[in-house]
Amino acid sequence: MPTVRKAISDMQTQRIGEVSRIAIGDPDVIPLWFGEPDLDTPEFIRRAAIDAMQAGHTRYVNKRGIPELRQAILDYTRTHFGLDLEPERITVTASGMTAILMATETLVDNGDNVVMVAPIWPNIFYCTQTMGGESRYVRLDSTETGWQLDLDKLFDACDERTKAIFIASPSNPTGWLMEPEQQQEVLDFCRKRGLWIIADEVYHRIVYDRPVAPSFLSIAEPDDALYVVHSMSKAWCMTGWRCGWLVHPAELGDKMGDLSGINNTGATSFVQHAAAVALRDGEEFVAHGVERCRRGRDIVHQRLGGHDRITLAAPKAAFYAFPEIAGLTDDLAFAKQLVREHRVGVAPGSAFGPGNEGFLRLCFAKSEAQLSQAMDRIEAGLDRL
Ligand SMILES: Cc1ncc(COP(=O)(O)O)c(C=O)c1O
Repeated sequence: MPTVRKAISDMQTQRIGEVSRIAIGDPDVIPLWFGEPDLDTPEFIRRAAIDAMQAGHTRYVNKRGIPELRQAILDYTRTHFGLDLEPERITVTASGMTAILMATETLVDNGDNVVMVAPIWPNIFYCTQTMGGESRYVRLDSTETGWQLDLDKLFDACDERTKAIFIASPSNPTGWLMEPEQQQEVLDFCRKRGLWIIADEVYHRIVYDRPVAPSFLSIAEPDDALYVVHSMSKAWCMTGWRCGWLVHPAELGDKMGDLSGINNTGATSFVQHAAAVALRDGEEFVAHGVERCRRGRDIVHQRLGGHDRITLAAPKAAFYAFPEIAGLTDDLAFAKQLVREHRVGVAPGSAFGPGNEGFLRLCFAKSEAQLSQAMDRIEAGLDRL
């Protein structure tokens, strides 16, 4: 068979998939391996999609999003961030991942690099790598009070082939959050060095000490070299619907339309109608989801944080715990053992970039009963490690 590109053949097997394949769909296994709440998409959002489909919204639509959703995004940004965005800065995408893909497509040539705050969700670094770029990881430091970013390390990692700094805050998998003071320093640095910022803010609503996570949009000027990635997946429990949006400089609007055309011609038509309704009427549901995650976080933190082999500060945001386990050297084997022998599914730390072999990631956007049982099973697994 003729070869495929080296960047593709070099791609590692997805380690979360390697674990989940063992027992995906098995009702006896408690699934904490993927990043999604166990709640169904609420009825009012499902209803909006059905109504849109019945009303005939089943055809090609504007590649950058239907007017109703574009307007809902502008209104949402005004309500939650106090910002009036220029409409030309918005492109609706068929997921947060597609927004990351489109941003990366505009920046990364063979041999370029993207400096990324790590641990980091694997699809983000695979995206740079499949374009022939290098993903450079700058690891957060794990301290007793939580994860900390050393900005000197971040800036020192940038060189003449760096195109962008990628920051996912709130972070998957650590629950770390970047404060506005650090965001300002990153913005100043990137302005001085002519670098882009890709700010992945898909977890901006899942935050436990304030209503919304700090956004780069609040400090940047409209023409700054900034992409901000958003998604309907997490706060509105719409992971399977595939809808998100990208905020970008207005002058890239036409290019985003062209890129959307060659990726997938935008998000599904009736999904976009439902997303507009979710953004407009979803506040009660979002608040309920965040409170549920807060309870989940507390259960996981109390149980695992108190374990004598585990280091885990309470995550500030998102819905993941990323505990470090003393003596764990083969996280992949242990994650597989937890599935096979203890019927609980977690993600191996090494999926999230180098240096994470002693960690596991678990998603706590689940019911209290499920989480308590999952903690029993993980503790039993640790006893046998
Ligand atoms: C940090 C981060 N960014 C982006 C995404 C993409 O979300 P989606 O493609 O479902 O919109 C995820 C999903 O897990 C994520 O964790």
